[in-house]
Amino acid sequence: MDISSILQGGYQHPLSRSWQGRRQLTKSMFMYPIFITDDPDASVEIPSLPGQRRWGVNKLEGFLGPLVQKGLKSVILFGVPLTCEKDHRGTPADDPNGPVIQAISTLRRLFPSLYIAVDVCLCEYTSHGHCGVLHEDGTINTEPSVERLAEVAVNYAKAGAHCVAPSDMMDGRVKAIKTALIRSGLGNKCTLMSYAAKFASSLYGPFRDAAGSAPSFGDRKCYQLPPSARGLARRAIQRDTAEGADIIMVKPALPYLDIIADAAQLTPDHPIACYQVSGEFAMIHAGAKAGVYVLRTMAFESVEGMVRAGATLILSYFTPDFLDWLDEA
Ligand code: PBG
Ligand code: ZN
Repeated sequence: MDISSILQGGYQHPLSRSWQGRRQLTKSMFMYPIFITDDPDASVEIPSLPGQRRWGVNKLEGFLGPLVQKGLKSVILFGVPLTCEKDHRGTPADDPNGPVIQAISTLRRLFPSLYIAVDVCLCEYTSHGHCGVLHEDGTINTEPSVERLAEVAVNYAKAGAHCVAPSDMMDGRVKAIKTALIRSGLGNKCTLMSYAAKFASSLYGPFRDAAGSAPSFGDRKCYQLPPSARGLARRAIQRDTAEGADIIMVKPALPYLDIIADAAQLTPDHPIACYQVSGEFAMIHAGAKAGVYVLRTMAFESVEGMVRAGATLILSYFTPDFLDWLDEA
């Protein structure tokens, strides 16, 4: 009898099954992406993102209070300015009266224990909808882009953000932001989470709807990574670590588990984040609605894959669901 051919004895019980993972899913692994708009009383459904809304600053207490009670530990804020004047350099991004800066101070006051990360990008605020400042011919002008992004990041940190997370994919912005934080005396007060390996994906559609951040011409393929580019992703991860990133993120998550595993191997001493993006969330909902699987089972399977690949932090629109599901599990 070949004893080593029997594996099932090792996972016959729910508890022994849970021991098969190197790490367990916990509530603190989830960071919840939130859309903040400039009408302070807004609570507007986003049709392509089931259950998600654009929120006004006055609604944050009622919306997040119950989630904090259930164990919500962190959020990442995205600004959705609807009434501002967008321009070539994204001036409204760090308007002190704009939705993001207002939300940072409101959340710090309301929920002192909540960790507040803020997405740093220009696309929601530029007239052309691209993530940086452009040359006349419509290509990215790297230097002023990076300068402007660093300025915005510092202003979010000054407003009280615990973490700034640049998602623009401009070369050199991690170094510029880290340096600017240090020069402003915020080097030890604000985490820099880099969207290091962010791919030019079809899975951002619902987000661009929600945030009004689709480019008005062209696409983002000259700054976001080509989906086939494992080597570029590995270089970007190592580059951003060398430039001072405190957390490395891979985005999207599910089609890029190999990149998450690469990040975990290349930078084993950094937290590894992944972003289960809007299209992944919508896809899992759509499949459940079509009867392909049960929503909760598939949601668990998706994030367990990410943790198995090496993620230690998951940005997900399923966060409120997991706060319930992890209690029931
Ligand atoms: C903006 C940004 C995007 C996302 C996060 N920050 C969209 C994009 O790059 O076009 C996507 C998030 C999601 O789809 O949930 N730079
Ligand atoms: Zn952008």
